[in-house]
Amino acid sequence: MSAGPHGPLVLQDNILLDELQHFNRERIPERVVHAKGAGAFGYFEVTDDITLFSKATVFSKIGKRTPIVVRFSTVGGETGSADTIRDPRGFSIKFYTEDGIWDLVCNNTPIFFIRDPMLFPSFIHTQKRNPVTHLKDRDMFWDFLTLRPESTHQVMILFSDRGIPDGFRHMNGYGSNTFKLVNANGKAVYCKFHLKTNQGIKNLPVDRAAELASSDPDYATRDLYNAIATGDFPSWNFSIQVMTFEQAEKFRWNPFDVTKIWPQNEFPLIPVGRLVLDKNPNNYFTDIEQAAYNPAHMIPGIEPSPDKMLQGRLFAYSDAHLHRTGVNSNQLPVNRPLRKLTNTHRDGLGCYGDNQNGSPNYFPNSFGSMYESRYGRVSSFGVSGDVKRYNTTDDDNFSQPSGLWNIVLTGDERQRLVNNLVSSLKDASIVIQVVKIFKLCCIIKIR
Ligand code: HEM
Repeated sequence: MSAGPHGPLVLQDNILLDELQHFNRERIPERVVHAKGAGAFGYFEVTDDITLFSKATVFSKIGKRTPIVVRFSTVGGETGSADTIRDPRGFSIKFYTEDGIWDLVCNNTPIFFIRDPMLFPSFIHTQKRNPVTHLKDRDMFWDFLTLRPESTHQVMILFSDRGIPDGFRHMNGYGSNTFKLVNANGKAVYCKFHLKTNQGIKNLPVDRAAELASSDPDYATRDLYNAIATGDFPSWNFSIQVMTFEQAEKFRWNPFDVTKIWPQNEFPLIPVGRLVLDKNPNNYFTDIEQAAYNPAHMIPGIEPSPDKMLQGRLFAYSDAHLHRTGVNSNQLPVNRPLRKLTNTHRDGLGCYGDNQNGSPNYFPNSFGSMYESRYGRVSSFGVSGDVKRYNTTDDDNFSQPSGLWNIVLTGDERQRLVNNLVSSLKDASIVIQVVKIFKLCCIIKIR
């Protein structure tokens, strides 16, 4: 509204004001990691009975289907970054089970770089931009990694062919951390989760990935969307590895060390079901950007293990969501459970539903609500040990990387791994290239 066709505007035009104000507030904080991603809806179907290991209702019956929303991502780049960079890929699954939300927040690699959550922010800083130059900085990256030799295993995977998957459909997913399954009799075992792609593993050659980074930076996002839109629904087989408490005590490695795998010849994959993605989001922001995955979201029958990295994650994600999607994030349509939410949380910014109406906002109460969530859910376990800050850097860092090099990789794959390492290291300063890498090589050789 203006005073005359060419005149100044009037403050009375509240529609213009609303328009400008809302536009200024369209962005929410991007994820501090895994900012660039794409996702879709689908279902998880049970194909095999694992009730011997877990009472989780999501596994209760062969043929049972549970709705899911999956989000794939790269880790280090910002929301607008290219899909085809060398980086681990995220593979997050939200199961809308009848017992509430179960979030299984996976990567496409079975292991991780570090085994101490204290190092996570530093590790991520070294992959993000240098605070002075605002550039990605190979010195920071290699300085950190050479000082933490437990990262060797994951660095080898990252710089192997699997470091650049051909889109999100042609890669596996791994829960990576060790979890606990509990059956109806209260008997617990440790477990790892695996997702094997039915599309076959496909990776991008380095040159093609670089070309796509400029010609089609949203390559993986487009590939996923188009496949689902044309009825070519991607699927993954879901399986578990199981380790008893007795086996865990005798295992030659720490079973809760996320830098190591559990060998499949000793702990074979047990089939459980399959995941199918058959529906694109209706709206990217509400369905995928606002999706808040949290490893602490578990259901009865699935519990955390003492894995230090998992323990760190149990706190980190809900705190991230308080910042990114707000205090009522769990009420957002994509995040809320199928069953009515029952807890003592009320009010707050962005209260989306009926605010749990008249149900008790206190515990204990005489109406039976929340008893199970407060007292009934977790199995008991014993702990011992002195409390102190343990340095986790030295715990057999090289046996499994040697196995990867000597047994798993072919000659061509080894050569490409070396080439890829060199093409990254050449951008680091000479001190990092020569002194640090030489030192690391000596350590490996001595072992
Ligand atoms: C102590 C170690 C870790 C910490 C502190 C941590 C922290 C975080 C945080 C704060 C986010 C952003 C969450 C959000 O804004 O919604 C995130 C996202 C994510 N993390 Fe981690 N993380 C850790 C280790 C891992 C590991 C081991 C994996 C894989 C097994 C993993 C996989 C993911 C994935 C896939 C996402 C993206 C979730 C999505 O799609 O929204 N993280 N992490």
